[in-house]
Amino acid sequence: MLRAIGLMSGTSLDGVDAAWLETDGERIAGFGPTVTLPYDARLRADLRRLLERAPTLGPDDPALADAVARLTARHAEAVAALGRHADIVGFHGQTILHRPAERRTWQVGDVVALARAARVPVAHDFRSADVAAGGEGAPLAPIFHDAVAAGLQRPLAVLNIGGVANVTWIGADGTLLACDTGPGNGPLDDWVAAHTGAAYDRDGALAAAGGADAAVLARLLAHPYFARPAPKSLDRLDFSAALAASGLASLAPADGAATLVTFLAEAVARAPLPAPPRRWLVGGGGRRNPAIMAALRARLPAPVAPVEDAGWDGDALEAQCFGFLAVRVRRGLPLSYPGTTGVPRPCPGGRITPPP
Ligand SMILES: Nc1ncnc2c1ncn2[C@@H]1O[C@H](COP(=O)(O)OP(=O)(O)O)[C@@H](O)[C@H]1O
Ligand SMILES: [Mg+2]
Repeated sequence: MLRAIGLMSGTSLDGVDAAWLETDGERIAGFGPTVTLPYDARLRADLRRLLERAPTLGPDDPALADAVARLTARHAEAVAALGRHADIVGFHGQTILHRPAERRTWQVGDVVALARAARVPVAHDFRSADVAAGGEGAPLAPIFHDAVAAGLQRPLAVLNIGGVANVTWIGADGTLLACDTGPGNGPLDDWVAAHTGAAYDRDGALAAAGGADAAVLARLLAHPYFARPAPKSLDRLDFSAALAASGLASLAPADGAATLVTFLAEAVARAPLPAPPRRWLVGGGGRRNPAIMAALRARLPAPVAPVEDAGWDGDALEAQCFGFLAVRVRRGLPLSYPGTTGVPRPCPGGRITPPP
């Protein structure tokens, strides 16, 4: 067993999650402390600009340096804040571009600086081997979900609602199938920021005050993404054009929020799963939005519960995943599978950078 720290900075750009765990990359011996350090408004804005500019940036573009240094420093603070030694750190980095069809996926972060600060080897670059082999490069959580769900009744669906939403389906025989279901909190956060200045719709209050617009919803759900079979994955901005053309902008703030919540839930209900799960366990910040949870419960036939019902930590799950995957990188074990990313065969990945 190794002691690992995982670090995840999701597409919501809200902050970095860090988590400690003990694992051999197959079984989990125990979880330890977790922490989330929020990003300040300037870092958020800079990362958002990088996301928008990424298609035209080169890998060493000076536009990256300052924001990446601050992003990395925040990750190093998170490692220190856990206050527990680890043998290895898993550093996902911030995705600023995800275009698997072009065999490109790009996570930024200064791995050498982080290894220097943490003083232990750092596993990173988790997605590019999968994408190079023809996979979607995402989601990578399924093999971790399978380990943490050992002993739970199957088929089971684990839904993570971050900026993008992704599901892992675990069959009775252990079969894994996964995909991004569609946009998660991302478009809702953008809508709320534009209309109220808040970073997100706290407790779903705005959405609860409105009603979904059927015509806008129908236009959004006509997006070809929903007709694709799994595995499949999304860039944070893949729905930007569809959202802009949907008529959403003409809606009142509360109705727009309600429409986006309903859209998220309809997209989850359309996830091409092989068989209905007995239960949906929901992690990520979206589980804190009662409007989202109610919309899911209205559309999914099986019980929908936060992952805490299974004794997991829904804020730390993604970070724990990258600690787990760091150990798998070190052991050369696959990170992705044909059913989870569409890669032709089980695919190891990641690289390890020792402290300088
Ligand atoms: N109390 C809450 N009410 C409504 N939404 C929330 C709440 N807490 C978190 N969220 C949502 O969760 C998002 C962060 O989710 P997170 O799982 O950290 O996503 P990511 O993995 O993309 O960083 C926020 O941007 C917000 O949309
Ligand atoms: Mg987050």
